[in-house]
Amino acid sequence: MTITEPPTAPPAGLPSIIQGGMGVAVSGWRLARAVARTGQLGVVSGVALDVVLARRLQHGDPGGELRRALAALPLPGVAERILARYHVPGGIAPGTPYRPVPRLGLRPHRDRTELTVAANFTEVYLAGQGHDGPIGINYLEKIQMATPAAVYGAMLAGAGYVIMGAGIPSEIPRLLEALAAHRAGEVSVTVAGAVSGQRHTAGIDPAALLAGTRLPSLRRPRLLAVVSSDVLAAYLARRPETRPDGFVLEGPAAGGHSAPPRGRMRLDGSGEPVYGPRDVPDTGRIAALGLPFWLAGGHAGPGALTRAMRAGATGIQVGTAFALCRESGLDARLRRRLLGEAAAGALTVRNDPRASPAGFPFKIASVDGTLADDAVHAARPRLCDLGHLRTPYLKADDTVGYRCPAEPVAAHVRKGRPAADTDGRRCLCNGLVSAIGLGQHRADGYAEPPLLTLGTDLGFLRALPEDYTAADVVGHLLGTGRAARVTDEGNTGT
Ligand SMILES: Cc1cc2nc3c(=O)[nH]c(=O)nc-3n(C[C@H](O)[C@H](O)[C@H](O)COP(=O)(O)O)c2cc1C
Repeated sequence: MTITEPPTAPPAGLPSIIQGGMGVAVSGWRLARAVARTGQLGVVSGVALDVVLARRLQHGDPGGELRRALAALPLPGVAERILARYHVPGGIAPGTPYRPVPRLGLRPHRDRTELTVAANFTEVYLAGQGHDGPIGINYLEKIQMATPAAVYGAMLAGAGYVIMGAGIPSEIPRLLEALAAHRAGEVSVTVAGAVSGQRHTAGIDPAALLAGTRLPSLRRPRLLAVVSSDVLAAYLARRPETRPDGFVLEGPAAGGHSAPPRGRMRLDGSGEPVYGPRDVPDTGRIAALGLPFWLAGGHAGPGALTRAMRAGATGIQVGTAFALCRESGLDARLRRRLLGEAAAGALTVRNDPRASPAGFPFKIASVDGTLADDAVHAARPRLCDLGHLRTPYLKADDTVGYRCPAEPVAAHVRKGRPAADTDGRRCLCNGLVSAIGLGQHRADGYAEPPLLTLGTDLGFLRALPEDYTAADVVGHLLGTGRAARVTDEGNTGT
């Protein structure tokens, strides 16, 4: 690798590399901690952590980390109630169905709130051990009903950054202010069919959880909004109430969800969205907003960090390279398979405009035996039992219902949507949870198949050793060519 100029230092206190938040639990606490120990920003995914914690506890928590983290949760009785409900000493037998967790909804639900708060606390708490760097947590704005409880849990554990994409996080600055003072906080929830002026919200009242415990004010995390256009960035930056503390400017090569192309959606011969010059955001305009920003999506190649900084960015956010490293939360066998197929030049990543119920194009790694495989998808009996991507709608009787285009077709039609809505939709909730080795086994023996997402740019693999670590990725991105120095506990790299 030849990099003539080392990247200049980012502004004080800000990282030049953000390890992207990758759901569900691909960027878990082990990965975020490994990155933070190199001095860069480690980010855990905050998506569906209620399910992740409940299932890990049902595996017995053999290392005791989860119980150690729960013991530090400063909310009386909460950890005990969660352990009583989900912890199975010694773990459940292989193939046993997991106990369900309460699904998201608008109506307050104490057990659900407690589990969400505790799960987000646990993930950030564990990621923060063994170093004194900040930890970030990533959320999807779309999953509005989980946000207040999830953010409060992360803040109780001292999260330094909240990074939010897949929507317009205009209400999050206010939420962070309120929760930092342990005041009640809420966000608006979009309810399809609701008459204008009728506001629905999801909220959390910390006083109810604290039950008289007095805690000092919390640190307000920095908010980074993930955007794909300078127009959205300018909109958010315009008013102090909506202004984030910075932006992640994400292009269509990034793993996970991406913004659709601007204008009418056009598909190429293989059915993938066609992006054009209008989709390239103007970094000059973003820089002119005066807030720090990081470039994301295909920025893991040699010299990418230097180029990003020359374009006015503070640094880069990288996901795929970390998703495939040793500390990734991906199921170890699937990760090795992805690396093997990539090394053989046989791995393709498709940007599927239909797969995600969220409605955004979603990258899917084409791996046999996963939900990428049409036969595996067709053979999956549709079932919506996790429901993180369900969205509320107003029913004819004025009550609120929930629907997801990946649910059973008849149910979706009954809920007022055309059957065509369901075409090609994959159950991301179950597929992504299966990809981290926590897939549901249904009572009839059906095992949920995994779904794998990655970015389209895999070129960085050529510069990395086999079975590389997070520190190797940081070293590569910084252009030092060796594993980044790890603080505390010694170098985990090669
Ligand atoms: C496995 C995987 C899961 C991801 N999940 C999320 C997510 O839940 N939320 C999000 O904002 N970004 C998500 N991303 C995007 C990353 O945070 C990051 O912006 C992106 O990966 C950068 O592009 P790169 O993959 O080319 O490095 C995901 C990426 C990957 C590879």
